[in-house]
Amino acid sequence: MVLLCGGCGSSSVKTAGAPAEPTTEPPPSMPKIAIVYYSTYGHVKTMADMVKAGVEEAGCEATLLQVPETLPAEVLEKMGAPPKPDVAVADPHTLPEFDGFLFGTPTRFGMASAQMKSFMDATGGLWMKGALVGKPAGIFFSTGSQGGGQETTALTFVTQFAHHGLIFVPIGYSNPKLMDMGEIHGGSPYGAGCLAGPDGSRMPSDLEKDVAKHQGTYFAGVVKKLAAGAA
Ligand SMILES: Cc1cc2nc3c(=O)[nH]c(=O)nc-3n(C[C@H](O)[C@H](O)[C@H](O)COP(=O)(O)O)c2cc1C
Repeated sequence: MVLLCGGCGSSSVKTAGAPAEPTTEPPPSMPKIAIVYYSTYGHVKTMADMVKAGVEEAGCEATLLQVPETLPAEVLEKMGAPPKPDVAVADPHTLPEFDGFLFGTPTRFGMASAQMKSFMDATGGLWMKGALVGKPAGIFFSTGSQGGGQETTALTFVTQFAHHGLIFVPIGYSNPKLMDMGEIHGGSPYGAGCLAGPDGSRMPSDLEKDVAKHQGTYFAGVVKKLAAGAA
């Protein structure tokens, strides 16, 4: 006779007259989060590293991906851009493997960079199949100046989420440092942000990095809740 432990959450199987043989279920797989970013001068990359640390601290798998560069090398040289870091280049075909997405972009004329938009334009096949529908997504950003487009970059990027059926996960004021009036900083309820300065010489401050890490942790928590609900 086989006794199944219905409803108790255990998969132990008992056979009458024989000692219990606990079967080990595979541990639930960690939700996978892709951090897809573009960075010319490294500010968004620094923020992406912090976001990644936050995602991992919250117990999710984080994969850093940089979108393909679209500018010719000679233009990048004239812009004073450093060489790209050793980070895997994002491929739209792999996106369905992930449970959630955090996109990072510098602001260009108040909105996402053309490199990021070009990558999103390459996701048309996924859009046609509805491959990303119902998955959570967030955004973080960098501007040269205050008022240079922190919120407009996030808000104009929400159209990408809407068309893909991605669920926008803003951070609200879940990190009180966003309210800090004691120092200049980027970031908003829409996502973590940094201020690069007009000449790009200002790297993300401790406060901005803290909010970026928080965004990773907060977002991972939402992804885990959604994954648990779907199980
Ligand atoms: C073509 C161009 C347009 C830009 N437009 C804006 C802008 O609208 N607002 C702003 O604050 N900064 C603007 N910037 C500054 C960038 O946002 C800044 O270089 C970036 O945040 C640095 O991030 P990164 O080091 O990751 O590339 C612009 C820079 C370039 C090259």
